[in-house]
Amino acid sequence: MESASSRPLYVGLAGLGTVGSGLVRLLREDRELIEKRVGRDIVLRKVLVRTATRERQAMLPEGCELTTDMTSLTDDPQIDVVVELMGGTGAAHKLISRALAHGKHIVTANKALLAEDSEDLFRLARENNCLLRYEGSVAGCIPIVGTLTDPLAGNHIDSIMGILNGTSNYILSEMTSNGMDFDAALTQAQELGYAEADPTLDVDGFDAAHKLTLLIRLAFGLDYPFASMPVQGIRNMDKRDIAFAREFGYRVKLIAEARLHKDEASGKTRLEAGVFPALVHHSFLLARVGGVYNAVRIESQVSGPIFLHGRGAGALPTASVVLSDLLAVARMDRPNNTGFVTEIEKASIVPPEHWRSRYYVRVMVSDESGVLRDVAGCMADEDISMAQVIQKENEDNVVPLVYMTHETTAQAMSRAMQKVRETGILRADPVFYRIL
Ligand SMILES: NC(=O)c1ccc[n+]([C@@H]2O[C@H](COP(=O)([O-])OP(=O)(O)OC[C@H]3O[C@@H](n4cnc5c(N)ncnc54)[C@H](OP(=O)(O)O)[C@@H]3O)[C@@H](O)[C@H]2O)c1
Repeated sequence: MESASSRPLYVGLAGLGTVGSGLVRLLREDRELIEKRVGRDIVLRKVLVRTATRERQAMLPEGCELTTDMTSLTDDPQIDVVVELMGGTGAAHKLISRALAHGKHIVTANKALLAEDSEDLFRLARENNCLLRYEGSVAGCIPIVGTLTDPLAGNHIDSIMGILNGTSNYILSEMTSNGMDFDAALTQAQELGYAEADPTLDVDGFDAAHKLTLLIRLAFGLDYPFASMPVQGIRNMDKRDIAFAREFGYRVKLIAEARLHKDEASGKTRLEAGVFPALVHHSFLLARVGGVYNAVRIESQVSGPIFLHGRGAGALPTASVVLSDLLAVARMDRPNNTGFVTEIEKASIVPPEHWRSRYYVRVMVSDESGVLRDVAGCMADEDISMAQVIQKENEDNVVPLVYMTHETTAQAMSRAMQKVRETGILRADPVFYRIL
């Protein structure tokens, strides 16, 4: 008989678009990893779509049924978890509330729904003792939801600041690096698949505001009505302002920010939050977040600043965190102290001498002809080729020779340095470091 712990986790997936197809692929390709992480299979039982007849890339597992009937997911007693990857608010809200009413756990990446219309969904989840997980809804594969709910749960968060929309960040990066104007950068983003045909949610700041609304709940335990949030996008950004800001040492970024203010006189704490383009000094990490990447900076008095950076969207990056939510449901009631429920295997180790890397090498030699060639010869004997060589100024008849090598092994480097020592031309032991 199947025990509760060995029984597969049965999943109903709603939505087989970009992220849904990515999840189907990961469930197929990562079966072994899933078994090690949670000790049970995750089985896709049904997939809900709008148009059943559409041709699809996703390879559904054998026995998995494609349906257009929402209730066949929400009401199926065999299904343990409903994964909502349809997007939008109306149908998704209906699906999730009905599934919760039937006692199913929920995994979703739907920030618009969670930000605008989810109070009753969280209440229903609580009342029915169901998990409602949504790591994929904020900043793609950056694990910010889990970071706030778990490792940072013991902190009073003071502020949270981020670049939460990859499309806008791509456009601003192109305007900054290549001097493009907004329309040209937007068209390029659309051609590359980084922007929707209707880019409103992205470039007008609403997508970032949806995500900020979720982060405010997670960081401060406060409900900030989405409709009241000040939101300014980048649609009217003039490339001249980006160029002028650059002259002062700043980058223009679309920033989502929330910070607590304590009023000393009244003792009351108030929240300042919004989405707006801002000048960020080039030395700040946020200024260096380029292209479609996202980043979040969290600060609390106890932890100090914490910075997370990664891909903000895309089929597999997003599907990977949706899968991590599914794994969390699958191992809900079993200890997970190592990250794996199975015994940890001994690592098969690459010996340090076989590590491959480029190298920086400095040797101190007498200022005599042929020394540069002698050192290079010792390296060539070990098949180490040079990328660059610099001979520095003579200091008291001692010359520093600096080499940058192409990739080689630590073993070859040690042997080459030993050969250099044996030439007798060195005035000090050679110095060499890996180049990352
Ligand atoms: N794309 C990303 O990189 C990304 C990143 C983070 C979060 N997200 C979030 O993930 C969710 C899914 O995004 P996506 O880009 O994967 O969407 P998508 O490519 O547009 O796919 C949506 C899927 O849902 C189905 N669907 C939509 N409305 C439906 C309805 N009323 N009934 C049944 N099926 C319906 C569609 O069916 P048909 O195929 O039959 O049309 C399609 O398979 C959204 O909430 C989005 O905000 C996406």
